[in-house]
Amino acid sequence: MLAVHLVSFFFSKLQEDPTKKVDRFLYAMRLHDDQLRDISARFQAEIKKGLSSESNAAAAVKMLPTHVRSTPDGTEKGQFLALDLGGSKFKVLQVKVREGMGIRKGGVEIEEKNYPIPKELLTGRGTELFDHVAESLKDFMQEKNISMEKKHPLAFTFSFPCEQSSLDQGLLLNWSKKYRVRGLQGKDVVQVLRDAIDRTGGVDVEVLAMVNDTVATMMTCGFDDNYCDVGLIIGTGTNACYMEGLRHIDLVEGDEGRMCVNTEWGGFGDDGALDDFITEFDRDVDAASSNPGKQIFEKMISGMYLGEIVRLVVLKMAKLGLLFDGHVSDALRTKGKITTANVAAMEENKNGLNNTKKLLIDLDLTPTMDDCIAVQHVSTIVSFRSSNLVAAGLAAILTRIRQNRNLRALRITVGVDGTVYKTHPQYPKRLHKVVRRLLPECHVRFVLSDSGSSKGAALVSAVAQRLASRKRQVDETLCPFRLSREQLQLVKAKMRAGLEAGLQTKGPSAIKMLPSFVYYTPDGTEHGKYLALDLGGTNFRAMLVNFKKGMQQNARLYHKIYTIPLEIMQGTGEELFDHLAQCVSDFLDYMGMKNARLPAGFTFSFPCEQTAIDTGTLVSWTKGFKATDCEGHDVVEMLREAIKRRNEFDLDIVAVVNDTVGTMMSCAYEDPQCEIGLIAGTGTNVCYMEELKNIEKTEQKTGRVKREEGTPKGEEDKQGDGSEGEKEGDAEIQKMCINTEWGGLGDDGSLDDIITPYDVEVNQNSVNPGKQRFEKLTSGMYLGEIVRQVLLDLTRGGLLFRGHVTETLKTPGIFETKYLSQIESDRLALLQVRCILQQLGLDSNCEDSIIVKEVCGAVSRRAAQLCGAGMAAVVDKIRENRGLDHLNITVGVDGALYKLHPHFSRVLQETARVFAPQCNVTFLPSEEGSGKGAALITAVARQKQEM
Ligand code: BG6
Ligand code: BG6
Ligand code: GLC
Ligand code: GLC
Repeated sequence: MLAVHLVSFFFSKLQEDPTKKVDRFLYAMRLHDDQLRDISARFQAEIKKGLSSESNAAAAVKMLPTHVRSTPDGTEKGQFLALDLGGSKFKVLQVKVREGMGIRKGGVEIEEKNYPIPKELLTGRGTELFDHVAESLKDFMQEKNISMEKKHPLAFTFSFPCEQSSLDQGLLLNWSKKYRVRGLQGKDVVQVLRDAIDRTGGVDVEVLAMVNDTVATMMTCGFDDNYCDVGLIIGTGTNACYMEGLRHIDLVEGDEGRMCVNTEWGGFGDDGALDDFITEFDRDVDAASSNPGKQIFEKMISGMYLGEIVRLVVLKMAKLGLLFDGHVSDALRTKGKITTANVAAMEENKNGLNNTKKLLIDLDLTPTMDDCIAVQHVSTIVSFRSSNLVAAGLAAILTRIRQNRNLRALRITVGVDGTVYKTHPQYPKRLHKVVRRLLPECHVRFVLSDSGSSKGAALVSAVAQRLASRKRQVDETLCPFRLSREQLQLVKAKMRAGLEAGLQTKGPSAIKMLPSFVYYTPDGTEHGKYLALDLGGTNFRAMLVNFKKGMQQNARLYHKIYTIPLEIMQGTGEELFDHLAQCVSDFLDYMGMKNARLPAGFTFSFPCEQTAIDTGTLVSWTKGFKATDCEGHDVVEMLREAIKRRNEFDLDIVAVVNDTVGTMMSCAYEDPQCEIGLIAGTGTNVCYMEELKNIEKTEQKTGRVKREEGTPKGEEDKQGDGSEGEKEGDAEIQKMCINTEWGGLGDDGSLDDIITPYDVEVNQNSVNPGKQRFEKLTSGMYLGEIVRQVLLDLTRGGLLFRGHVTETLKTPGIFETKYLSQIESDRLALLQVRCILQQLGLDSNCEDSIIVKEVCGAVSRRAAQLCGAGMAAVVDKIRENRGLDHLNITVGVDGALYKLHPHFSRVLQETARVFAPQCNVTFLPSEEGSGKGAALITAVARQKQEM
């Protein structure tokens, strides 16, 4: 009985399908759909981790932005050299792309040659590997008779993880696959290539773009299929890329449009995320690899490792007596003796078993038929696991794309390359089937890249070439705005000469240097209630100021802002002043002070010839004003008359001051070192305390001025230069504030060498052509107009807005200073720039937005530098006036350009520092505008009147 049982047991054993024991043995490698879904979900989490700036540094899946922003659209064209390094073969190619024709129509021609890489170079020095690359390139060009005289654009497929900040740059993060080249990690591989090409000599190329093989594959397949948004490699290594919404890529500025992300999914599991799926064979493969602990996912999938996994499984089974009767050969013990090509051969449909037998015999084994069937099955399980894992990874990517696009169903194409996919007989079918099973809602097409990745790399380069040429042209356009140190030095010198000339009596000068009849900066003794009116900036302001003696910080202010309609600015003088009187009336009503007859100071921000503190004859309008019958008239008188006409209230107008003077006084109230006032707003101007002895014209008109007893204190020894401070009561006044009206610099042609055609246009279209040339290069009222002129030119040249010159773009004044400030803000994402432009009626895409921002930057930077150079002239003059080696001084500043623009003030200050190294200049923004300063001047003048 026992004998019967034993026989039947052995019989059943003999009868058992040999694949069953393999199935049992490799149970952990046979992944069910639930497990694949689990892996897919984990990979989705890794994608998010890699994309977020917070978790990216620690992420195993690196999610590298590639700076490839679009898939091919048929407009790509050109002839490119290409290098393809990192797959199983190193190739040099020539790719010709004809515009508007897909490959099927013969639009792309490729010639290529393989150059074997000597084994020792894979672990040698970086320069040696790249010298070989450069020499191969040169050899290829010679062989194909490609001209060595011309410069050739070159596309570089480099199939390793690189951190890119642009298409033509990439820092190698680490090697993978069989490369362990020394000295390149962390280096810009494009530069390394350029250097090697230079070393080799005789070849003139421009490396336009470096792309990963996944990206190049996506682009290759995208040339013929618009739905191709994913690139996949299953070759020596494995990896995938896909088009991600820019808004999800934290590491790249901008939130509009898409960018291809190289996932580097080979690193999935490097942080242990796949530990429960990893078998002892995977561990052994990893431990024996040259990068243990790295590329865990890749080591379960790609061609470099599949054969080795099979070998380790077969070896272990043999050792356990499950194969070859327990016999193990030396060959089977030797690493690399089963390759992925063997795996593919074993799984061939017809010859698979024969191939398996042959392989095993070659390994000095004597396999039975069952052994062959079993080993073939090991192969199948290992390669099936590979395609299953790829399917799980792809499912994660495709699900993400579907969710990003908010779609229930997704139609998409995956471009694929790599020897495993291309040569393994069952692989593609299995992969497609599992992906479709995991994602029933997606219609996925797989397209094999029939010509390698270089066509795609050439397409990327074609786009890069177009962008580079566009950038060159934009740069050329903006070049005249980029002033050299010498040019700025010259501006400083011209400003200085202009200041000096203006102080002389002889004839009119470009810089008017108008005496203000303000002799002192405040000292805190001012007190009482004053009305301040402020005309000439962006708005008209009425303000009530209440000074309490000795309480600098506690001046109480109440104000109201009124806009001045354009028709009033440019109507008659009477209308303008009637309007002001009406605003004042409203303000007094608002304050309940209609009957007070307040002493008033009038900030009037236009050039006025003054003979006393309370008279000012308008020399000429500037900025947008051109009300008739005002030039040549006393504006104080005009305001008094308007108030009289209104016959509702009365004011005691005690002082008229320029806004620069008001601003200086306002700031001097806080900081006694403040002896300069600067406005960088709608217009631009400076005032400063000049020595009376230098003001020839004032001396003639006023003679030396004696300070009367009781008037505010004069200048003490502010510079600490040791000179005697003035004694209260009998001091001779030494300084007067001069309103320079520096905006007029250049009205005599002295700035013509830096004036661009765009400035010429802006000047001609202004209300005062030929006047205020410096102001027209530097102030808020004009910067937007200059920008608009540049944009018009770029658009006409086809470099912007797809060449459409719209009515909006033709509209003067669309770019107010506030928009410039917003556009240039570093905190603003590109999408927001685009929103601003769209609000303005300009339909810009992402590339347009970048250019517009660049134009704004060039124009505003020039403005800030010019003002800085001008300021350097002013402070140096004051320093020299006082015979000092070193001057400490404060500038009180106001104006929207200075206060609101994100970079203007910094650039201005830097420039002033560079061009006036002997001066330590502090810039103090005025807090309540110039009104407080005007009120202070009024207080002093009023106190004098009362005495
Ligand atoms: C080639 C591409 O066809 O495939 C390469 O041109 C790519 O860029 C390679 O790296 C990947 O496959 P393998 O099997 O050569 O690593
Ligand atoms: C204000 C001052 O704060 O700034 C005005 O009170 C001055 O007197 C103005 O004219 C300048 O800035 P903007 O940007 O309004 O021209
Ligand atoms: C490796 C590389 C990756 C490449 C892939 C396929 O995983 O790290 O950059 O795309 O191999 O070649
Ligand atoms: C213009 C005016 C000037 C004023 C400046 C700033 O340049 O002419 O008086 O100070 O604008 O508002």
